[in-house]
Amino acid sequence: MLRKLIAGNWKMHGLRDEGVALAEGLAQRTADGQAACDWLICPPFTLLAPVGGAVRDSVVMIGGQNCHVAAAGPHTGDISAAMLQDMGCGYVILGHSERRQDHGESNALVKAKVQAALGAGLIPIVCVGESESQRDAGKTLAVIEEQFDESLPGAAQSIVIAYEPVWAIGTGRTPAKEDVAEVHKHLRGLLRARLGGAGDQVRLLYGGSVKPGNAAELLAIDEVDGALVGGASLKLDDFWAIGEACP
Ligand code: PGA
Repeated sequence: MLRKLIAGNWKMHGLRDEGVALAEGLAQRTADGQAACDWLICPPFTLLAPVGGAVRDSVVMIGGQNCHVAAAGPHTGDISAAMLQDMGCGYVILGHSERRQDHGESNALVKAKVQAALGAGLIPIVCVGESESQRDAGKTLAVIEEQFDESLPGAAQSIVIAYEPVWAIGTGRTPAKEDVAEVHKHLRGLLRARLGGAGDQVRLLYGGSVKPGNAAELLAIDEVDGALVGGASLKLDDFWAIGEACP
């Protein structure tokens, strides 16, 4: 069993004081070195410096929520993978469905971003997941497979994949555990086919309405190696309870 990763995706939430307080709280709770999982916070870009400072002497890691494909250049408003790395990030979330929707990010663009992140020494957390109509049409595994094939560079091993059904994000709804198990098993098979034994070392997160009340059940599913948590990562007690639910 891989050590679980509990990653908080703050999205576009948080001003300095509340963000720092949340990060400090998590750093304090993990200070005894007994953490049963790896902890990651992905705050908005504006909070990377203060949040990074708040967790500097702790086991809590920080990551970005997006990056540009280029290392530098005339791209007003964008942030490169090297910039994230320079701020102390170890990870970057890529291909989140909100970016695919809000910014029209295609699989090909996500793939280029994954390459940029790997080139800068970051571990990309690549999100895949079906919409509700795709699930209703019985296309879930086909959609996941297409996203896997088209958004992940062939030999990339130093990655994390997050399965996030679009309809489960921020809705309070989650798939049946058998459905999560089916998708994760499928993803593991795709990884093994591509990477051989190394495919077993890639962590597969589940994301979409993870909260204290369902975390134990979700985290106990075969091939679920952690969680990508949105709303519940903004409340220290809830985020902590999710980590504590790791088997
Ligand atoms: P949620 O978001 O936990 O609020 O559903 C998860 C995500 O979008 O990563």
